[in-house]
Amino acid sequence: MDKLLIEGGIRLVGEIAISGAKNAALPILCAALLSSEPVTFTNVPQLKDIATLLALLAQMGVKVQREGNTVTLDASTLTEPVAPYEMVKTMRASILVLGPLAARCGEARVSLPGGCAIGARPVDQHIKGLQAMGADVVVEHGYVHVRTPRLKGTRLVTDMVTVTGTENLMMAASLADGETVIENAAREPEIVDLAHCLTAMGAKITGAGTDILRIEGVPRLHGACHHIMPDRIETGTYLCAAAVTGGEVRLTGAQASSLDAVIDKLIEAGCTVQSDADTLRLTAPPKLAAVSLRTAPYPAFPTDMQAQFMALNCVASGTARVRETIFENRFMHAVELQRLGADIHIDGNTAVVQGVERLQGATVMATDLRASASLVVAGLVAEGETTIERIYHLDRGYERLEEKLAALGARVRRGK
Ligand code: UD1
Repeated sequence: MDKLLIEGGIRLVGEIAISGAKNAALPILCAALLSSEPVTFTNVPQLKDIATLLALLAQMGVKVQREGNTVTLDASTLTEPVAPYEMVKTMRASILVLGPLAARCGEARVSLPGGCAIGARPVDQHIKGLQAMGADVVVEHGYVHVRTPRLKGTRLVTDMVTVTGTENLMMAASLADGETVIENAAREPEIVDLAHCLTAMGAKITGAGTDILRIEGVPRLHGACHHIMPDRIETGTYLCAAAVTGGEVRLTGAQASSLDAVIDKLIEAGCTVQSDADTLRLTAPPKLAAVSLRTAPYPAFPTDMQAQFMALNCVASGTARVRETIFENRFMHAVELQRLGADIHIDGNTAVVQGVERLQGATVMATDLRASASLVVAGLVAEGETTIERIYHLDRGYERLEEKLAALGARVRRGK
């Protein structure tokens, strides 16, 4: 199994390009299921999760063409509206095929994702929404089985803000009969990007980026071409990596407006951050100040950046309180960071991080995607060599990670 070896203590300096957003690409590729015409996507990141989704779509009968970062999907040949357990267990986002399949085929069989390292993560809101739109949903033998005549537009109020839940229901509603209103909708930038893609395909959607979405169903959607937005979590991760090393970086193809809460915290930590149309520049001070934070749905601080900021706080001056409100079990990186010498105490959903003078390289284990990213951030500043095991998690979400870090001067290599 691959490992990542990092020689810490080098100041990151230079320029790299940000990739397309994984969490935008996953739902947007699923949107191609809604049309019988080919849809082309550009800026699709080359990641394990994207490969898993494309394999799933191909297994359903979708024609998949991929050339570098451009993907064309033709779902005119869709024959098998099924997402088997073997696929869904490796990537929870496979649940995003449920809404499009129900709307386009009137039938879907999708495995329940089950729990994952960061918590239980049920999909009850996805199911409840489809039922409210008239679908007959049976959960048996670990599968969600949906049968429905044409879905009917209705008013939906989700019990909590759910990103993929909102995306699934928005896609289903775009082919429903009549108007669907989704209240308490997620406002993440990836929802807005999905709405842009669906609109280019002929959907009628207003309110994307607010907590009330209105979707006027249409009988069919047509082919289109859509450019995937930049990855705000990848951007935030490189900003943190530069910040902990006292570095100076320029990130191109980034979208600063999707990162307000993260940039605010970096400024609070003592960094200078400047942005223009699609470039972000960060200059870090020699010593960072500890920053407390609380995760919450967008536009508040993203849970997907919590682990990287915990790593940053490990070497900052002062004490930070990091509160996680989205997932119940998202502090597994804390014990690994402790192996590097961090001073962290967990109290329920709050981690109290007391900055230390230095971290020391050690062997640590990646437990999920963003936990792994936090270990990379910590490894870059730790003295000596840090070995991160199980880096397949990183390959799920960071395109050309070693190459990009090396371009900033980091000493990283992949080993067996
Ligand atoms: C998405 C992101 C993930 C991010 C998360 C929160 C993708 C592919 N993944 O995950 O990177 O960490 O948003 O920003 O975009 N919940 C329920 N029932 C449901 C749905 C959700 O109880 O039916 C709960 C979850 O367990 C969690 C909370 O709601 O506690 C938010 O989860 P949700 O926004 O749905 O996360 P994902 O969409 O899975």
